[in-house]
Amino acid sequence: MAKINSKFVCQECGAILSKWMGQCDVCKNWNCVVEEIVDTSSVSKKDVSVPDDFFTNFSESGKNSSISAQFSQRHITKLKELNRVLGGGFADGSVVLLGGPPGIGKSTLLLQILSELSGIENYVYISAEESVSQVMMRAKRLNVQNPDLKIASTSNIHQILSAISEIKHNSIVVIDSIQTISSDLIQSPPGSISQVRFCTQELVNFAKSNDVIVIIVGHITKDGAIAGPKTLEHMVDCVLYFEGDKSYDYRILRGEKNRYGPTDEIGVFAMGTEGLQEVSNPSSAFLSEYDDNVSGVAVFSGIEGTRPILSEIQALVSNTAIAVPRRSAIGFDPNRLSMLVAVLSNRCKLNFSNKDVYLNVAGGLKITEPAIDLAVVAAIVSSAFHKPLPKGAVFFGEVSLSGEIRQSHLSFSRIKESQKLGFSKVFCSYKTEDFDKNEKIEIRKIKSIREILGILNNN
Ligand code: TYD
Ligand code: MG
Repeated sequence: MAKINSKFVCQECGAILSKWMGQCDVCKNWNCVVEEIVDTSSVSKKDVSVPDDFFTNFSESGKNSSISAQFSQRHITKLKELNRVLGGGFADGSVVLLGGPPGIGKSTLLLQILSELSGIENYVYISAEESVSQVMMRAKRLNVQNPDLKIASTSNIHQILSAISEIKHNSIVVIDSIQTISSDLIQSPPGSISQVRFCTQELVNFAKSNDVIVIIVGHITKDGAIAGPKTLEHMVDCVLYFEGDKSYDYRILRGEKNRYGPTDEIGVFAMGTEGLQEVSNPSSAFLSEYDDNVSGVAVFSGIEGTRPILSEIQALVSNTAIAVPRRSAIGFDPNRLSMLVAVLSNRCKLNFSNKDVYLNVAGGLKITEPAIDLAVVAAIVSSAFHKPLPKGAVFFGEVSLSGEIRQSHLSFSRIKESQKLGFSKVFCSYKTEDFDKNEKIEIRKIKSIREILGILNNN
């Protein structure tokens, strides 16, 4: 008789508990502990034998052609923006987790990847969400013309693994999505932590032993994390997030973790009638509707990964009658907004106690680097005084609690990009190094946020 094991697993944090509890002991969330039954009948003790070539000497790596080939082999997609995020295409045997909210374009992106990849012979797309005919229809619409592409629709992980067991090297398998596939060895429903973890582990094992690229789609929770335990992100080689506001056409692919390349690099796409198109010059795309005659608008020269991207920061300061005025931000950390408003009140003697402050980063971008502070402060001050900022001005620099403007990294790239897009002035920290004196762009170095008020008054 098969031995049935049961365990109590928190669906929020993945903790395994000794008994059922209303509140998880570890993450303190309520009603998230469920009993999961693990059928261990198929798991038997195996004699573990170690093959002769278990270890490879590091000094042999240059001589062993199969290993040195693995080092260099990268599979390049047609989408340059994606190659940039991956650090030069997909590495053989790598497992990539692609997360994003529903309807953002994950399945569309994957079908476009599968339309052509350098050096790949086998293309497999397994959808557990759509039927084969639905995927076919979409592929036709996206003009995918790949005779080697195979499509299947199933949600059983064991069926998937046996179907792809023969596939080796120079192959890619896409699983859409991890929350909808399941194993009958685990009693909990598809999408539960045990199922997601088990299926991912099986797919990782397959990718590593057969040297196949596996891309797994993961849904995200309302907090923006990939549904399932954080351990899922540790199990894979590369985590990509596909984000963007659905009301805009722009979609941003962000590298969150990458064992074979840089992180924090972004790729920008636009969703059109024929799927995702690359946006090769994001700065001009994000500034397409920029009007420098309006108050409360500042242009920020930011760095995403290694690339400078200009974006428009909009602020609105309005009177309020409520006791605790609102500080609300889209695309920016609201806590940091509160901090900057406090610095402005304290260091510039401006009164925001009866004012709501709203901030928006246009185009659906999310900016986390502190260099945005100066642009935020400039937009707020401009809105508070109903005066536009100087024409053709760009801002960057971190604001400290003392109101001092601090230096930002890669200043030169930020200035160059601003100049390329036709801006005439850059406001940055007084500590920014001097560059080529022949630059056509005027560099205005400022020491304190108080000087922003002067900029407005001289305008
Ligand atoms: P989809 O790839 O199905 O999203 P996900 O897999 O992340 O849930 O994208 C669906 C959205 O994309 C849907 O709102 C329609 C839109 N779309 C286009 O605008 N153009 C296209 O060519 C395609 C295929 C989709
Ligand atoms: Mg989908």
